[in-house]
Amino acid sequence: MNHQRRIWLTGASSGIGLALAEQLAEQGHRIALTARRREPLRALAKRYPEQILVITADLTDIHAVREAGERLDATWGGLDWAILNAGTCEYMELPRFSASLMERVMRVNVLGTANCIETALPLLRRGHEPRLAVVGSSVTYLPLPRAEAYGASKAALRYLVQSLELDLANEGVAVSLVSPGFVDTPLTANNDFAMPMRLSAKEAARRTLRGLERGQREISFPGRFIAMLRLIAALPAWLRITLTRRRRKPEATTEQEIN
Ligand SMILES: NC(=O)c1ccc[n+]([C@@H]2O[C@H](COP(=O)([O-])OP(=O)(O)OC[C@H]3O[C@@H](n4cnc5c(N)ncnc54)[C@H](OP(=O)(O)O)[C@@H]3O)[C@@H](O)[C@H]2O)c1
Repeated sequence: MNHQRRIWLTGASSGIGLALAEQLAEQGHRIALTARRREPLRALAKRYPEQILVITADLTDIHAVREAGERLDATWGGLDWAILNAGTCEYMELPRFSASLMERVMRVNVLGTANCIETALPLLRRGHEPRLAVVGSSVTYLPLPRAEAYGASKAALRYLVQSLELDLANEGVAVSLVSPGFVDTPLTANNDFAMPMRLSAKEAARRTLRGLERGQREISFPGRFIAMLRLIAALPAWLRITLTRRRRKPEATTEQEIN
């Protein structure tokens, strides 16, 4: 058995987060699970009552996140890992560019994660071999259609994590960025396009944890999919755009519909 860690995991009520929670619990770690929905967290806590702490919170609410931090502090006094996985995805449907959609996605993915980082860092500084892991996305390797909001939010996280890594370099807090390809979860359930090399949530969680155990700073999978994205991104712009642009014509075209 590995060292028993104290781990804060966000977005633990479904998809990759739920699979991470199950695997971490099976490995014997102590985990604090956070999401807005309490039931899925409680169901897992019933199976591992000694190991699991349920802390429901809306991560976009800084006060709720600070309260979560107070509970973590009171219960464990420090954190060894924080895995900030909670996220949302909404696609932009042009011709109508929606600033409010942009705001919704940024609020959860960027500001929600920033709220958690503010709360997690003081606890990680008191942890054993501490590591902050943020779940981004492989979308940051290649601009994709309709991903204006989601892709921008994950690109912001990539920069945030890489900048933070520099500032934490002397503090002994390690940083990891997790960039999954397509994973079968409620987040992708309604996608109406091909999702090549899609993994199960269980497999995505397994690869994430393997990377974290190895102390990898960049955890991207599946490898062949990431290589394909990087290759297309390196092509001349005209060819990259020809390969990635949307084929279907938008339906709304009149000025009234657009506004
Ligand atoms: N699935 C993929 O193909 C894929 C690919 C690349 C990256 N990712 C990333 O992987 C992460 C997990 O995604 P998933 O696919 O597992 O999606 P998911 O099944 O929809 O899970 C999202 C999780 O985030 C939580 N969450 C969302 N908004 C929240 C908020 N305001 N406050 C607290 N918790 C919130 C949800 O819990 P509640 O609704 O209960 O609050 C849920 O537990 C995300 O960051 C996503 O961007 C996914």
